[in-house]
Amino acid sequence: MSANVPVHILDFIRHLLSATANVALYGMNHPQVEHLSSQAYAGILTALETCREFSMLVVDDELIINGLPQDPSLVLDRFAQILKSRGIGHIKVLEGVSRQELKELIAGLARQSETPGVIASSEHLRLGRVELSAGGEGWGRHHVPIPEMPAEERDRFMEIYETVKHHHKLKVNGLLEVVSGFVEVFRQEGRPLLVMAALRDTDEYTFTHSTNVCILNLAQAMSLGIQGQLLNDIGVAAMLHDIGKLFIPEEILTKKDKLTSEEFDLMKQHPAKGARYLLETPGVPRLAISTAFEHHMKYNFSGYPQVSSDWRQNICSQMTTISDFFDALRTRRSYREPLELHEISEMLQIMMGNDLHPLLTRNFLQIIARLTEPSV
Ligand SMILES: [Fe+2]
Ligand SMILES: [Fe+2]
Repeated sequence: MSANVPVHILDFIRHLLSATANVALYGMNHPQVEHLSSQAYAGILTALETCREFSMLVVDDELIINGLPQDPSLVLDRFAQILKSRGIGHIKVLEGVSRQELKELIAGLARQSETPGVIASSEHLRLGRVELSAGGEGWGRHHVPIPEMPAEERDRFMEIYETVKHHHKLKVNGLLEVVSGFVEVFRQEGRPLLVMAALRDTDEYTFTHSTNVCILNLAQAMSLGIQGQLLNDIGVAAMLHDIGKLFIPEEILTKKDKLTSEEFDLMKQHPAKGARYLLETPGVPRLAISTAFEHHMKYNFSGYPQVSSDWRQNICSQMTTISDFFDALRTRRSYREPLELHEISEMLQIMMGNDLHPLLTRNFLQIIARLTEPSV
């Protein structure tokens, strides 16, 4: 998921960088600095004509703009480095930002500070610190306090999954049993996420991922008071959301490098392929069919497949998008380590209301915040 940075935001970043470099050379009051900061400010104003705010987040050395990772570029890489070296994890630019606020940011960035977090936020330019936690607290990458899911459920689902993979015939009843098993365990444990699978290292990513998305969906649904058949259907829908990937060539699914645009086009067919397959399979809840089809659509319809603007997405699809995103970021990829819980929370906050349903995301953030609370 990478995107072209909106041109005005890129203008802003480019001029901000030049202005910052020029302050170091000539001082804050030099006409060149004045000129470059005006251009940076013009970029902000134009960018804010189409949205009320925009955000930039540094994850590892990459810049995420409005929730979307960007293709590598010298300017963006440099900007990410500068932010990181100044202890800034994210910047949110809000409507109403003044020239003065921008100048203070430039002056702050230009200071060669050794101490992170010295640049203060202003009313319309919100800066977030990089949390330099050494691990041990919270849900760090070396500290995942999550026991394995019950072996029985795991094996049963693995078996169903393998069957689908090799014979393309789904045993819906078996799946329902697995999900009811999860729900039962959650009821007894009282803390659904504690049962989340710690299966990072199995070679079967889609299996592990589907199980995790199921557990996260159930946690969301239960926290909203959903129960009974609907709760089970939401779990089943999550288990099956990526079933269409079984029809995508293995070499694309497991490719370590970035997908070519042709490969990505093929990958983008998995929602429709999955929905079609489920439609033809007896006994599958209808919710699972819409979820398979809609889980990459995003709240603002910026994802895929593309549909008409009056399309109404199912709430289960929207929950699945959030769980899916969370699990993908928690997973180690060839190009990055799994993200820390606080980093994922920051990204979710930025994407809330754009890519992700705002209320469901807020609820999800509360669920993951509870993860760091001491056990009861
Ligand atoms: Fe998917
Ligand atoms: Fe997925």
